[in-house]
Amino acid sequence: MRYYYPEHLAAYRRLEREGLTQWNDLFEQDRTDDFEAFPNRAFLERVLPEQPADVLEYGCGTGAAACFLAARGFHVDAIDLIPEAIRLARRFAQERGLDVNFSVQDVCAMPATSKQYDVVLDSYCLQSIVTDADRSRVLTAVRDRLKPNGRYILSTAMYDPTRVYEDDFRYDATTGICYQKTTAPIADAVHLDNTWYLPHRRHLRPEALQAELQRAGFHVVSQQGGDVVATRLG
Ligand SMILES: C[S@@+](CC[C@H](N)C(=O)[O-])C[C@H]1O[C@@H](n2cnc3c(N)ncnc32)[C@H](O)[C@@H]1O
Repeated sequence: MRYYYPEHLAAYRRLEREGLTQWNDLFEQDRTDDFEAFPNRAFLERVLPEQPADVLEYGCGTGAAACFLAARGFHVDAIDLIPEAIRLARRFAQERGLDVNFSVQDVCAMPATSKQYDVVLDSYCLQSIVTDADRSRVLTAVRDRLKPNGRYILSTAMYDPTRVYEDDFRYDATTGICYQKTTAPIADAVHLDNTWYLPHRRHLRPEALQAELQRAGFHVVSQQGGDVVATRLG
C-alpha cells in the first residue's frame, strides 16, 4: 500500500462516521459545514474559462469543486484514490441533481488515454504526492491530458515559515519534504538518523514549485502562493 493511502482512507472513514461533507471539515479551525464553501472556490471563480468546458479533477475528495463546476455546465470527470470519498461524492452530486463522472483512480498510476481536457484541476491533492518520481508521474499525466491550449489549475499547500511540524514529523528544507515517523520499514519508508519515516507532504517554496512545473513542461501563467494556473509548453 502506497504512503498516501492509509491517511486518506482514515480521513474519509472519519468524515463518513461524523456526517461531515468535505476534507476541510475534519479540521476544527477550517470547518464551515457548508458544501458550497470549499477552500479554493474564489480562486476558481476568478480563473475558470467563461464557457463550459471539459474538466478532469484529480483528488476530488467528496466532490465539492466538481459539483460546483457541473452546476455551471462544465463536463466533469473526477477521480480520487479513496472509494469512500467517491461514494460520498456520488451521493452529494445526486442529491443536487448534478451529473459528474466520478471514479476511483490513483493519479500516480493513470492508464494511457487519448482523452484530453480544457482544464485539469487539482484542489489540494499534489501536496500529498511527495516523492519526485510520483510527482513526475502526476505532472506527465496532467500534461498528456491537457489540450494544447488547456489550463492546469492547481491549488496546493506551500512552505509556510509559521507552520509548526509536530514531534512525529520532520521537515527537510532542501527538498520541501515533510516526513512522518513510522514504526517499521514498510513500503515507501525511508531510514533517516536511525528512524523510519514515510513521505507525508511536499511543502515547496513558490519558486521551487514554479521550477518543478517548468521542468515538467508547463508555462506558469499566474501564481499566488499555492494557487497556480499553467499551460502546456509546446
Ligand atoms: C487534502 S484532500 C482534498 C480533497 C478535495 N479536493 C477537497 O478540496 O476537499 C486530498 C485528496 O487527494 C486524494 N488523493 C491523494 N493521493 C491521491 C492519488 N494518488 N490519486 C488520487 N487521489 C489522491 C485524497 O484521497 C484526498 O481526497
